[in-house]
Amino acid sequence: MNKINSNTKSGTFIVTDNQQLSSTYSLLILRPEDDIDLKLADFKAGQFVEVLPPANSTFLRRPISVCNVDETTNTLWLLIRDAGAGTHALNASRPGQKIDIIYPLGHGFSTTLPKASKVLLIGGGVGVAPLIYLGRKLKEAGIEPIFLLGARSKSDLLLLDKFNEIGKVFCSTDDGSFGTPGVVTQNPVINDNYDIMFTCGPMPMMKAVAKVAQQNNVECEVSLENVMGCGLGACLCCVEKTKDEGNVCVCTEGPVFNIKRLLW
Ligand SMILES: Cc1cc2nc3c(=O)[nH]c(=O)nc-3n(C[C@H](O)[C@H](O)[C@H](O)COP(=O)(O)OP(=O)(O)OC[C@H]3O[C@@H](n4cnc5c(N)ncnc54)[C@H](O)[C@@H]3O)c2cc1C
Ligand code: FES
Repeated sequence: MNKINSNTKSGTFIVTDNQQLSSTYSLLILRPEDDIDLKLADFKAGQFVEVLPPANSTFLRRPISVCNVDETTNTLWLLIRDAGAGTHALNASRPGQKIDIIYPLGHGFSTTLPKASKVLLIGGGVGVAPLIYLGRKLKEAGIEPIFLLGARSKSDLLLLDKFNEIGKVFCSTDDGSFGTPGVVTQNPVINDNYDIMFTCGPMPMMKAVAKVAQQNNVECEVSLENVMGCGLGACLCCVEKTKDEGNVCVCTEGPVFNIKRLLW
């Protein structure tokens, strides 16, 4: 069954700022064009958008996570890693650039949790993107988020100041240049008592985190980044095999899954 959101729409957004975080990463801030009646605050943490990169750089849209929504300015934040033609064009876009976006897509993380819940949000690389908005939503619900962020090196740790504003932050770097040396699963903080873990990042990292969660008998939700075409449940190029429903489209059924559903 195609579980696309009934409130999915498309429209033009205007780049209001493009903050170059490094040669590879940028933070795009966009506002809906004036004639779109859109309350971005309705987006759920873990949902994504399908962006048509500017300058005819790609034929297909590219899936990008909702990194944050600034309700005061009704702007959308997208954290972009330059991975190829489409994300390169997004990275290079300047204020005033118009960008066509389909929004919001997919189903997000579970945010309706008891206030006393102890939650760990684990991100790696550009996978930290949805954890800003998730952390904020949890905090607004009275839950204190704890972040564990992993990267190759200190300079690859993204948006640390924003994470520090939201909750307690632990870091791991492969080269030991910041935080605990090694990968996130080697950071002792991962073995504290949690009610739930949320993770997004490279597949090997998410699988390793899922293994720790299984061993420690902790609930765990992962945000999959399978390659996508349409983002709308039509092309079937994003399928993931599940225990309960066989092959499902990550774009419409996910991208967030409880690990109990996955064949990991
Ligand atoms: C749900 C979801 C959320 C994502 N969120 C973000 C985000 O917040 N920020 C970010 O920078 N990236 C995100 N990505 C990854 C991003 O979509 C890809 O990096 C992008 O599509 C690559 O396109 P390109 O034209 O730049 O590069 P290409 O030259 O097309 O490809 C470069 C690399 O990206 C992979 N890739 C290509 N197309 C896709 C695709 N449609 N989906 C996933 N991977 C692809 C290729 O396998 C290749 O390894 C997300 C992907 C998914 C599925
Ligand atoms: S991307 Fe086309 S079905 Fe999911």
